[in-house]
Amino acid sequence: MKIKNIAVTGASGKIGHNIIPELLKAGYSIRALEHEEPVRAENVEIMKGDLSDETLPERFVADMDAVIHLANVKENRETFMNVNVRGTFGLLDACRNCGHIQQYIQAGSDARAGIYYYPHPYPIDENYPHSAYPGYYAFSKVLEETMCEQFIIQSKLPITTLRFSWVYAEDDVLAHATLKKPDFGVPVWEELVVKPEQKEFFEKGLDGVAKLVHPDGRPGLRHVVSIHDVVESVMLAVENKSALFQAFNVAGPSPFSYDKLAGYISEKLDIPIVEFEYDVFHDFHIDLNKSRSILGYNPKYNIFDIIDEAVEFRRSGNKRTFLKYPG
Ligand SMILES: NC(=O)c1ccc[n+]([C@@H]2O[C@H](COP(=O)([O-])OP(=O)(O)OC[C@H]3O[C@@H](n4cnc5c(N)ncnc54)[C@H](O)[C@@H]3O)[C@@H](O)[C@H]2O)c1
Repeated sequence: MKIKNIAVTGASGKIGHNIIPELLKAGYSIRALEHEEPVRAENVEIMKGDLSDETLPERFVADMDAVIHLANVKENRETFMNVNVRGTFGLLDACRNCGHIQQYIQAGSDARAGIYYYPHPYPIDENYPHSAYPGYYAFSKVLEETMCEQFIIQSKLPITTLRFSWVYAEDDVLAHATLKKPDFGVPVWEELVVKPEQKEFFEKGLDGVAKLVHPDGRPGLRHVVSIHDVVESVMLAVENKSALFQAFNVAGPSPFSYDKLAGYISEKLDIPIVEFEYDVFHDFHIDLNKSRSILGYNPKYNIFDIIDEAVEFRRSGNKRTFLKYPG
């Protein structure tokens, strides 16, 4: 495999924006697909286009050696079929038809396994069956992956799927865990209010940090990943022959429990801990044995590192990047 030119969709997005500088540093030439949000990168070829335009994929992959497909829409009933499903199909089909794509990297998601929505009797490994949680986003991640699997079977298209866990960048972890806006991800704490002492925080605009608990009082267990480890996983997969025709989990070094998360943030920000019971939440743990042994993936950022970075981000006066879908 000799890869020089890589076409990247979703180049302006959370993951794409962080990956492009590393790909450039490694010497690759990049063609970036730009749709609505500008691509904030220098020294890349920009191609403007919409994935739901069926004429785009052929032009986009022309003269390329590899594709990294990151573009998608999240919980959007109107567009997910055209952008996520037909768009991914168009790219896969163009890669097969042109005959010169040596590697196609698909952004998968742990949403394909339902994460906290279903009970998981064992850590979620790559063989865990697709079981999307309700909605359009997870549904489309399953459909995208199913198409990839069939393109491997039918055409031996050299596909690598990286199944990212929930990616934390900037101050995402604080946006998620603290009670003040912005809200980020699920659950939205205000929607779980049942006790007057919880309500008071929102009525008076006070800050606190949420500790998610099960109905029996045990803290919830969740597995997420830092953007730095995500970037590392992509760099390990690109041009890696042993990564072809397979899917890999990409998560942080270990899951976190909400009591540890809340305790650490409470100390760092000097805000109280507030318990929220969430009865639909099931603990989950992503198994990394396959990505560790085949990709050499070795995630470094645990939840405390992620919190430290988020606190630093806020202290330096940085502003969060606007996200269309806060999750
Ligand atoms: N962020 C996460 O927590 C996370 C977790 C697991 C998997 N993923 C997957 O990783 C990939 C990238 O995620 P992200 O968080 O960087 O996404 P993002 O929402 O930040 O960015 C989405 C990108 O898709 C582009 N896009 C949207 N509609 C388009 C269209 N019609 N045509 C062309 N481009 C279009 C946008 O311009 C943007 O660049 C996605 O496939 C997502 O499912 C993300």
